[in-house]
Amino acid sequence: MELMIKKLNHVGGVYIEPFAGGAGIAMGLLEKDLVKDVVINDLDKGIYSFWRAALLETDRFLEEIMNVPLTMDEWRRQRNICFNENRKYSFELGFSTLYMNRTNRSGIIKGGVIGGKSQRGNWKLDARFNREALAERIEKIAKRRAHIHLYNKDIGSFIESYLPKYAHDGLIYFDPPYFDKGKQLYLNFFNYDDHVRIEKMIREKVKCDWIITYDDVPEIMHIYDGYNLKRYDLNYSVSEKRKASEIVIFKTAQMIPSKEEMDGMRICLNLR
Ligand SMILES: C[S@@+](CC[C@H](N)C(=O)[O-])C[C@H]1O[C@@H](n2cnc3c(N)ncnc32)[C@H](O)[C@@H]1O
Repeated sequence: MELMIKKLNHVGGVYIEPFAGGAGIAMGLLEKDLVKDVVINDLDKGIYSFWRAALLETDRFLEEIMNVPLTMDEWRRQRNICFNENRKYSFELGFSTLYMNRTNRSGIIKGGVIGGKSQRGNWKLDARFNREALAERIEKIAKRRAHIHLYNKDIGSFIESYLPKYAHDGLIYFDPPYFDKGKQLYLNFFNYDDHVRIEKMIREKVKCDWIITYDDVPEIMHIYDGYNLKRYDLNYSVSEKRKASEIVIFKTAQMIPSKEEMDGMRICLNLR
């Protein structure tokens, strides 16, 4: 994304993730001062609550990170919040989303606990919960809160009503739920018609630069037939260790980075 920001003259501009999730890329760009502002949106109340609590109730959040028990009893309590108290914003829901992300296999809310319920595995549930590192990262991000614009909207209303405020000099990265695996991975999932709806909205309403990534499946190829589309290989670790390819769709052909541009930034991606 760093390459795209530079190539498309968005340095100092706005970077937008309408399906933000953990928003790792957005926060990286902000921390490197490559963009001035980031806009993150996610419909999921857990994810939204995580961001809101971490950004606006930071001290309490950091204290919780340092003191929360890393035990199966606590995991069950946090899981219950995540699954049953997820209709509206709460600090507790935000924290439980982080807790599940750090203690579940591959960080997936619906995944099982690291080490199994009996905790007899080589890795236990605390394996990825490094209190100091987590607290440090959140503290660093929260310092930039004035430049992080957070929304909890369905993609339709986000594109229609909120995006126009930022899109004039923005770069948008759409990372929608996967076509095939979305159902297993996320609390909100899309069916075929929803993916069609997204394409139509982007085509009709989004005027600034954008990129979309998807899993490489015929249905998505069909929906985006005629677009500037490339494939790249990637090593999945989420559920199975196999090589899979993904699709990246660019708004215009000029946006597609050349091999030289990628080599220049040491990006090893076989866009094809
Ligand atoms: C593929 S994930 C994004 C992953 C993200 N790029 C990251 O690095 O963590 C898709 C995200 O879309 C969100 N989502 C699902 N349905 C949505 C909708 N209708 N509107 C907005 N966000 C939605 C999910 O909650 C999920 O976080």
